[in-house]
Parts: sequence; structure tokens; C-alpha cells
Amino acid sequence: MHTYLVTGGAGFIGSNFVHYMFDKYGDDIRIINVDALTYAGNLENLKGVEDKAGYTFIKADITDKEAIEKIFMNNPDIDRVVHFAAESHVDRSIRNPEVFVQTNVLGTAVMLNCAKAAWENSDGTFKEDHRFLHVSTDEVYGSLPDDDNAFFYETTPYDPHSPYSASKASSDMLVKAYMDTYKFPANITNCSNNYGPYQFPEKLIPLMINNALQGKKLPVYGDGKNVRDWLYVEDHCKAIDLVINKGRLFETYNIGGHNEKRNIEIVTIIIETLQDMLDDSDPRKANVTKDLITYVEDRKGHDRRYAIAPDKIKSELGWEPETMFAQGIRKTIAWYFDHEDWMKNVTSGDYQKYYDSMYSV
Ligand code: NAD
Ligand code: TYD
Repeated sequence: MHTYLVTGGAGFIGSNFVHYMFDKYGDDIRIINVDALTYAGNLENLKGVEDKAGYTFIKADITDKEAIEKIFMNNPDIDRVVHFAAESHVDRSIRNPEVFVQTNVLGTAVMLNCAKAAWENSDGTFKEDHRFLHVSTDEVYGSLPDDDNAFFYETTPYDPHSPYSASKASSDMLVKAYMDTYKFPANITNCSNNYGPYQFPEKLIPLMINNALQGKKLPVYGDGKNVRDWLYVEDHCKAIDLVINKGRLFETYNIGGHNEKRNIEIVTIIIETLQDMLDDSDPRKANVTKDLITYVEDRKGHDRRYAIAPDKIKSELGWEPETMFAQGIRKTIAWYFDHEDWMKNVTSGDYQKYYDSMYSV
């Protein structure tokens, strides 16, 4: 029986991971979810797991060394750390880079140091079968040229461009340094863009779904031809479970869906899927048309194309994306249909201020 310390478990991927792990392992795991509940963290995402005997939530900031030390001290059975907590939105990082350095770099240093202190034996080795997984992004590899057949491999040199990707790259380097220097038992995963339930509507897919349902403009940056590789979040969670339990220690694994699409294609698919899924009697249906698409000023330093080669995780751990995009986007839209209150709650208050300051459409 493992005890997981999950950081950022109230966010998008973290909460999906907590649900996935309890669905898979039931009473055979414990999960301690540590989250500072920033604008991106939401305890509503954890409905259904809160009552589980194996689940504990602790509100704490990963940059708070004393708080994290105390969590390890009070829970000596923690033998898995899955580190999701981060500032995760590129646009916010362009406006306010400092908090990205604070959370993503300093926060990761605190997590590494506290786990090392808790797991290190007196001879400098580590307790058996204790593992730390640092969840990172393909954005650390930089940008691939348009219409190119190149992919990001684990060996691709880092070349981050945004403050977000630079801070994630820095955190990855710290994890590598701990592995090289102390033989600290860790892995890094670099994953492509995720989509699915519980994603905050500042990111492309939920923002477009939410706007379209309200008949609001759909703001497409630049020429709309930037390419991202979209992976259904549950497939990412499955990969994380595999890497932390079966991956070779000290290795990096790239995770991706081989599902590269231009942004404009994504927006068009969302419109078409909404039109197909909305009932003819639904008054929102008439508003959901391609006329909502509005090209807006490009993001500064906008990476052109991301594309992951997931060959290593496939050949070593047998992982493959299971959810095709056409199916995943329907599941995602169905989830947002069923969770209108969730969307209302997360878009009340500060979200509107953020939206108005970001978009003039
Ligand atoms: P998110 O923004 O939805 O959630 C981040 C969570 O971290 C929130 O619950 C937030 O409250 C918490 N948090 C932020 N600062 C904190 C702090 N100082 N202390 C404690 N908790 C804090 O992010 P996400 O999309 O779920 O991404 C999770 C991880 O996966 C991140 O590390 C991100 O870099 C990585 N990742 C994301 C994607 C993606 O497409 N979303 C793809 C690849 C990798
Ligand atoms: P995003 O979801 O922010 O993820 P990331 O920047 O980490 O890849 O954006 C995905 C793509 O969609 C990216 O190329 C920027 C673009 N985009 C828009 O065109 N309009 C929007 O309103 C948003 C949020 C993103």
C-alpha cells in the first residue's frame, strides 16, 4: 500500500489524477493532497473523494518550507510524491513572471529538499521504493517549425521561450541535479497539452466551449495555425501512474497523443461538436456558429508547434493514448454540459476581471 503526496491536486490534472487513482486502487492507497488553492485550485474538483478514508487535504503553499517539512514529518509513510503544483498558464506568465519563478522553481526546490530529508538514510542512500515524480511539460523543448516532421524526444535540448516554460525548465533542471548529485529517486515526465474535465477556462479548449455556449466571440491568437498535441487528461494520469510505479528511476519520459492540430482546427471541431450535441430545442444552439471566430492579436513569443514522440514510454512501459480526439472532445463537452454550476462558480469574481484585461472581444 502506497501513500502518495500529491501537490496541486485541486487543479486540473491533479484532481483528475486523484480521481483516477482512487477509482483504480480504491482502499489500497492513501493520498495526501497539498494545494495552496490559488485561483486555479478548486476543492469542488474533489467531490466524491473527500469522504474516502484514504484521502486527506492539506492547504499549504509548496514554497513554505516549514509547512512541507511538517507534512513529511507527520506522515512518515509517504513513499510517493507526484508533484503537479505550479503556475501553469503561459499568458499569465507573460504578464507576471515572478510568481512563476516563485512557485515553479522555488516550490520545486522545497519539495525536493523536504522529500530528500525525509527519505535519506544516514549513509546517503534512500529508503527502498520511495519515488518522486516531477510533472512537466513539452514546452521546455521550445518550438518546432511549421509543417515540419520533427518531434520532441527526451534527448531534445531544452529551449524554453515563455516565462512559464523557462520556469518549468528550471524546475526540471533542479530535479535532474538532485538525481545526478544525490541519486535522489525521481523521474520527470514531459507531457503535451491536456484537455478534459475540470480544466480552468483560461486554457484554449474550456475557454472556447464556455464562450461558444454563451454566444461570445472565440478569440483565436495570430493566424490560428499554431500547432499543439492534445492528450485526454485521463491518458496522462495513466502514464503518470505507470512511470511512478514502473518507470526506470532517473529517467525522463515524454508523454503525448500524436494528435497534433492547429488551433483553428480545434476551435472548428468544438463548434461542430457543440452543434451536434446541443438539442434542437436548446436556445444556445442558434448562437454556436463559426461567425463567433475572431482573430485577435498574437501572443508574445508564441511557440509555433509542439509535437511529442512518446516512443520511449510506449516501448518501455507499454503506454499509448487510448482516447481519440473525436471521442475525448465529446466526453469533455458532455462534462461541461453536466457541470454548468462548476463553470458558473469558477467564472464568477476574479475570472471576469482576468478575461476583460486579456481580451477586448
Ligand atoms: P492548474 O493550474 O490547473 O493547477 C495547478 C494547481 O497547483 C492548482 O490547484 C493550484 O492551486 C496549485 N498551486 C499553485 N501554486 C501553488 C503553490 N505555491 N503551492 C501549492 N499549490 C499551488 O495546472 P494543471 O494544468 O493541472 O497542470 C499541473 C501540472 O502539469 C503543472 O506542473 C503543469 O506544468 C503540468 N502540465 C500541464 C499541462 C496542461 O496541458 N495543463 C501539460 C503538461 C504539463
Ligand atoms: P493554451 O491552452 O493557453 O496552452 P499552451 O499555451 O500552454 O499551449 O493555448 C493553446 C493554444 O491556443 C496556444 O497556441 C495559444 C492558443 N490560444 C488562442 O488562440 N486563444 C486563446 O484564447 C487561448 C487561451 C489560447
